[in-house]
Amino acid sequence: MCGIVGFIGTEQAAPILLDGLQRLEYRGYDSAGIAVLSGERELQVKKSKGRLKVLSDIINGGKSVEGTIGIGHTRWATHGEPNDINAHPHLSGNGKIAVVHNGIIENYVELRDFLRSKGYEFRSETDTEVVTQLIAYYYEECGSCLEAVFRVLRRIEGAYALGILCADEPEHFIAARKDAPLLIGYGEGCNFIASDVTAIIKHTRDVSYMEDGEVAVVSKDGVEFYNSLEQPITKEHHTIDWDVSAAEKGGYAHFMLKEIMEQPEAIRKTAFSRIKDNRVFFEDLKIDADYISSINKIYIVACGSSYHVGVVGKYNLERMLRKPVEVCLASEFRYCDPLVDPRSLVIVISQSGETLDTMAALREAKALGAHILSIVNVVGSSIARESDDVLYTWAGPEIAVATTKAYSTQLVLLNMLGLYFGDILGTVSQEEYACIMNELLRLPAKMEQMLENTEDIKHFASNYFNHDSVFFIGRNLDYAMGLEGSLKLKEISYIHSEAYASGELKHGTISLIEDGTLVVALGTYSALFDKAMSNVVEVQARGADVLAVTTESHAAEMRKTVGNVIAVPNTHTIFQPSLGVVPLQLFAYYVALLRGCDIDKPRNLAKSVTVE
Ligand code: G6P
Repeated sequence: MCGIVGFIGTEQAAPILLDGLQRLEYRGYDSAGIAVLSGERELQVKKSKGRLKVLSDIINGGKSVEGTIGIGHTRWATHGEPNDINAHPHLSGNGKIAVVHNGIIENYVELRDFLRSKGYEFRSETDTEVVTQLIAYYYEECGSCLEAVFRVLRRIEGAYALGILCADEPEHFIAARKDAPLLIGYGEGCNFIASDVTAIIKHTRDVSYMEDGEVAVVSKDGVEFYNSLEQPITKEHHTIDWDVSAAEKGGYAHFMLKEIMEQPEAIRKTAFSRIKDNRVFFEDLKIDADYISSINKIYIVACGSSYHVGVVGKYNLERMLRKPVEVCLASEFRYCDPLVDPRSLVIVISQSGETLDTMAALREAKALGAHILSIVNVVGSSIARESDDVLYTWAGPEIAVATTKAYSTQLVLLNMLGLYFGDILGTVSQEEYACIMNELLRLPAKMEQMLENTEDIKHFASNYFNHDSVFFIGRNLDYAMGLEGSLKLKEISYIHSEAYASGELKHGTISLIEDGTLVVALGTYSALFDKAMSNVVEVQARGADVLAVTTESHAAEMRKTVGNVIAVPNTHTIFQPSLGVVPLQLFAYYVALLRGCDIDKPRNLAKSVTVE
């Protein structure tokens, strides 16, 4: 989704802005632009539809735009189609104010009418241009950009991260945030703003996260902050502890492949740092045994792949805890008047920690008195900061839009949480505990073993890459895993794909199976393997071409019926989806590769979805 970067210092701003925007490309966007203030106090706005390369070529990598203060933006269209005019930054009619914005201004129509009544004209269809003109309007009145911004923030409703340049004030730019991520980066003789630390990590690891309602005045030698009451405040500094190479491809053709390969290491980091003397150990968890015993229901709330982790979690946590677990799509949860109370534990899962629907669901649950425990990858993100408890996945930066290593680490961490609670509640026996722990410790190595040989999967991908419809079928944990396998395939290869609980096939979907339809049959859940086999036979009888995924111990049995079988190592049931999902990720990757798709940046999708 939209990305923001801003810079002020002594070096030429435009190349730095372009470089920052390039690092935000992974978030998904359809146009890009920069505004730089020249020595002559002229705001130069350069923007273009399409890839950043188009913009970069127009301005010779930024070299042809002079000035040492500027703001940049990658836009993911909400109001108005992706084109040069709707791209950010937006410039006020008088040429004095330039603005980049992430989020949505909900009352922009009313504000636009107000400005029109004052004679203002609009070039674009965006809500952002309304903010720009409104700042210009107040600036004309008061002569201070900061004061104008304060006045505008009192009037606008909705979500925003804003970067604002004023032609008359070359010594600083202004940033403001509400419900959209924004951080300040401190350099030597220069400072930055960014919607995502990836944009500026090359220059600094010293950052402050802006909170809702805060405004920052960013100059070369310092940053002044104001709270929502417009009072000066000081902010805590945080140090980013991952390095630049973690956000680079390191010889891989795509971030997605690199991130698939990084999964064993990411699981080691996430899990092994929380094991002491063969016990799960959550150092900072605030909830204690009394609270855990008092929980009457667990909700898992998330979007996309994080939601799919929740679906696996429902099966595993109910099994381990014997407490009801409901998994909810965040976008539905927030509007369904949820039956949450202080005895509800709400587990919020999010890679980015910024997904707007998930954030809104969190706030809804919190207002109802629930304890919020989040599983988040991005340190210091909004969801992490608003939760009562946070467990970080230590997956490192995930750049490919299609998540892989974040999914895997979330899955492991959720299982560990189940184990930890189950131990306290006495619902997991010590024998079972030891068995799960033993398999957890072996999980990364088993995953490595699978990743060493991907030839079979490449071969299957070459057989099937030109299919136009695929069904993933499975029961219980295999169904949960199929949801993720199917999503991976559709999001990066654009093949129509659906995941079905096998038992439901005969209630409708089986009518779509005809000669040659590809069915990916998942049979890794041992307890229901025979039933999985029955469903394989059922679809084969209707002409389906079956690709099966099962465990090594069931592979021989599966091969009696199916020609194309992928075998994954056996592990404890709760971890089986962690291994089973790997060939599905690779299958999606190689299929998309053969179809020539833009794997890391699939069309219409965004890494971090900060609009509703
Ligand atoms: C987007 C991403 C998905 C992700 C979902 C939820 O749609 O493309 O990969 O699963 O958002 O994101 P979150 O950051 O909350 O896990």
